[in-house]
Amino acid sequence: MENKKYSCAIFDLDGVLVDTAKYHYLAWKSLADELGFDFTIEQNEALKGVSRMKSLDLLLGFGGLSDRFSQEEKEKMADKKNRIYVEMIKKLKKEELFGGVTDLFVKLKEKNMKTALGSASKNAPLILERLDIAKYFDAVVDGTQVSKAKPDPEVFVRAAEILHIPCKECIVFEDSAAGLQAAKTAGMKAVGIGKKENLPMADLVIGSVDQYIPYL
Ligand code: BG6
Ligand code: MG
Repeated sequence: MENKKYSCAIFDLDGVLVDTAKYHYLAWKSLADELGFDFTIEQNEALKGVSRMKSLDLLLGFGGLSDRFSQEEKEKMADKKNRIYVEMIKKLKKEELFGGVTDLFVKLKEKNMKTALGSASKNAPLILERLDIAKYFDAVVDGTQVSKAKPDPEVFVRAAEILHIPCKECIVFEDSAAGLQAAKTAGMKAVGIGKKENLPMADLVIGSVDQYIPYL
């Protein structure tokens, strides 16, 4: 994958720069425990990159509880999950930033590439603050600024617009199927972070973002 025509790297946050995916899982699992059903790590794959309310719908589906609750009840459940999650995130340590992330950002700057965050999370500002990484981004777009969740491309297109960069010059780093789909729909290069079998739609799959350094 040659890199000459790329001028911007857009990063998902959860599961790409930091393993907050495990905290999302634990928080949803505590809700599932309370509702009396099992929620497995394999089922959690489907929730990655997906908005909070859509995640709740998927979770309730796994528990055979779809259409059992009113919108108000579901909002209360999602709030409860979020409170559990935020308590975990408040304790996030700088060392939890994945290894090599800082090296990649340094390289991207050396190559004069712009960087952006494109996250579905409404908690992204807190995570950026805990990890002290807001300084690495030329633009930040998170779940508080978009109306359509991934796989809609809005979050990535918005980031490219802020930076005045054509979508075809952007590379997206994503750990979720929904996010990779969003990148492809936007006409961007989609680099999957994780296992090939979980991310068949990616243009390239690597185990962690720093493994992209040789491609720069
Ligand atoms: C994504 C996560 O980044 O953000 C999803 O991969 C999560 O698991 C979504 O549901 C929304 O996050 P939040 O923090 O706003 O509930
Ligand atoms: Mg993610």
